Amino acid sequence: MDNNKIINNVIINNNLFKLNFFLKKRRKIIILLDNNIKKFCLKVFNKFLPNLQNSEIKIIKIISGEKNKNLKTCIYIWKKMLKYEVDRSYLLINLGGGVITDLGGFVGSLFKRGLKFINIPTTLLSMIDASIGGKNGINFLDYKNELGVFRNPINIYINYSFLLSLPKKEILSGLGEILKYGLIYSKKYWNYIKKINFFNNNKINWKKIIYIAVKIKNIIVKKDPEELLGIRKILNFGHTIGHAIESLFLLKKKKITHGEAIALGMICESWISYKKNFLNLKNYKEITYIILKFFKVRIIKKKYFKTLLNYIKNDKKNLNNKIYFVLLKSIGKSIFNVEIKKKVIIKSIIIMNRLKNKNKKLYVG
Ligand SMILES: NC(=O)c1ccc[n+]([C@@H]2O[C@H](COP(=O)([O-])OP(=O)(O)OC[C@H]3O[C@@H](n4cnc5c(N)ncnc54)[C@H](O)[C@@H]3O)[C@@H](O)[C@H]2O)c1
Repeated sequence: MDNNKIINNVIINNNLFKLNFFLKKRRKIIILLDNNIKKFCLKVFNKFLPNLQNSEIKIIKIISGEKNKNLKTCIYIWKKMLKYEVDRSYLLINLGGGVITDLGGFVGSLFKRGLKFINIPTTLLSMIDASIGGKNGINFLDYKNELGVFRNPINIYINYSFLLSLPKKEILSGLGEILKYGLIYSKKYWNYIKKINFFNNNKINWKKIIYIAVKIKNIIVKKDPEELLGIRKILNFGHTIGHAIESLFLLKKKKITHGEAIALGMICESWISYKKNFLNLKNYKEITYIILKFFKVRIIKKKYFKTLLNYIKNDKKNLNNKIYFVLLKSIGKSIFNVEIKKKVIIKSIIIMNRLKNKNKKLYVG
């Protein structure tokens, strides 16, 4: 029985049957992965792919982590590709989390004017978000995803059995983006997700969770593939402040996952939505309550506000020196291109900081 769920070029299953079939005709393959993938996922990958035995395979391994999603790593990969005499007949397989799929898509798109590539995401976040939609890129001078290209992989193969080895904090990181889909697009999905106990891996219906998330992302991306109309921007809810928080932690060499930073960004941006009279108080309180069920507040000290604002000013959604946000009208409905002043942004961070005390009176500010 064919158990695959397919949305456009995304194939979801807990085996890699379709991939095995696809690779039958590919003789020259280059796999990009990081040290954790090599340790935890390569065995699973090989197990599913008997057809690979006859192929000429080159592996390029990089060191894991957001801090390596940069130009230095790209140069390292391109040098390896040259050494391996990779030409355009090679298929690039990006096997890993969002760092690998973002980086791989970027280096692959530029090398010899573009290698064909496929994504095999191994983190929850990359399964439901990073590997899909054709955005590839790297960080530059501390700015998140500052260099990048739009280019789609031939296919994306999601095998959720990779999640078995994924640390809890990385599962939660994916949850940050999953919650976002509910908030920007589907109240039904939000209501379903908010009741799941993500601390008990055994009882989670990954296929359903991933399928709906991928479906929502695909619907939005299809309407506006290169973010020219603006609709695609709604996928950036929580990211204006969230990316700035992520950059700040990177600068301070402190660890925060992408989804955790986005979750905190969503608290701030939900508060801004409420303060600007788009979102009602009940919805704002519910959002904060659910996010804080899964994530802890990370205090941003006053001395970092200026740095944070500098990152926010450089956000790709801004225009003519004005800062634009995606905001919520209600749970499941969002709007984009709302100009927000710096002092409101700072106030939202102060409110988020205060939530550390979990004092209900402080929810509103
Ligand atoms: N292109 C897009 O549309 C898009 C969307 C969202 C996020 N992103 C990007 O994605 C990145 C974050 O992705 P991520 O959260 O997957 O991070 P990641 O790729 O750094 O993976 C997280 C950690 O898990 C490890 N890992 C991966 N799979 C594993 C497995 N199955 N078992 C054990 N360990 C495993 C990795 O080595 C890494 O240490 C960010 O750079 C973000 O900007 C891109």
